[in-house]
Amino acid sequence: MASSAGAATPPGAPEVEDMTAKDYYFDSYAHFGIHEEMLKDTVRTTAYRDAMLNNPHLFKDKVVLDVGCGTGVLSMFAAQAGARHVIGVEMSGIAISARKIIAANGFADRITVVKGKIEEIELPDGFDKVDIIISEWMGYFLLYESMLNSVLFARDKWLRPGGLLFPDKAEMYICGIEDLEYRRQKLDFWDSVYGFDMSCIKSAAILEPLVDIVEPASVFSDSAPLLVRSCRVCRWRAPRRVRAAHTEHTTHRSPPLSLSLSLSLSSSHARSRLTSPPAR
Ligand SMILES: C[S@@+](CC[C@H](N)C(=O)[O-])C[C@H]1O[C@@H](n2cnc3c(N)ncnc32)[C@H](O)[C@@H]1O
Repeated sequence: MASSAGAATPPGAPEVEDMTAKDYYFDSYAHFGIHEEMLKDTVRTTAYRDAMLNNPHLFKDKVVLDVGCGTGVLSMFAAQAGARHVIGVEMSGIAISARKIIAANGFADRITVVKGKIEEIELPDGFDKVDIIISEWMGYFLLYESMLNSVLFARDKWLRPGGLLFPDKAEMYICGIEDLEYRRQKLDFWDSVYGFDMSCIKSAAILEPLVDIVEPASVFSDSAPLLVRSCRVCRWRAPRRVRAAHTEHTTHRSPPLSLSLSLSLSSSHARSRLTSPPAR
């Protein structure tokens, strides 16, 4: 079994204290702010915590792999849930801080942080397979960070037959939205910017996906499942085309579409679900 803190740091990786603006530019997850934001997202973080702590029978004495462990928060939940050993893999400089956090919380002998890309690392000595893979890989709408590929890579390489994935089912929903005021703010804005006509940008701007909060009142259609993936068996393939029907509710030729997501941890007896409305 590998020693924990300090293991598997590639030569040349800077300590947090020595990181420069250049290191941060190429390593956005080294910033503490992004981790603060994720940890303060209590819906997200408690969904993972509850899924693990409410299912200690699944974690007792198991070897767990945390893909993209960040600050190590999910690794520590897994250890609290009874895992025999947790291997946290993190490619960003935050891995150095994760080791310190894990040691400060008394988990150094049960959690090993490996700094590197999951696609390039080896598991620590003494481990060739894992019983459970945990990962918070979704980013915006499952696709934005393209991290699911990395989880599936880890699944195919190291997950024992019959092993568990947390989460193990991902669903994406689509619905039509209509918000004239929002459209004015985002598109008609280009008509006069400090008195200049920048409206030539509008036709390109309307095609760009936006990540924003959709008011419930703006939703005018049912939500339809666009993508359902069982992470236990899926191979990754992005959806190629979405068809949208024109409805009488909209004044635009192409109604804006809103995507939302739902993740579930179906292997747990205390079922857990993490959704962004308006998914069912
Ligand atoms: C959405 S964050 C989740 C962090 C942490 N698990 C949490 O829940 O707070 C995803 C993390 O995965 C890391 N990551 C992304 N792709 C990776 C890869 N291929 N190998 C290792 N780490 C990766 C990122 O650097 C980032 O810290």
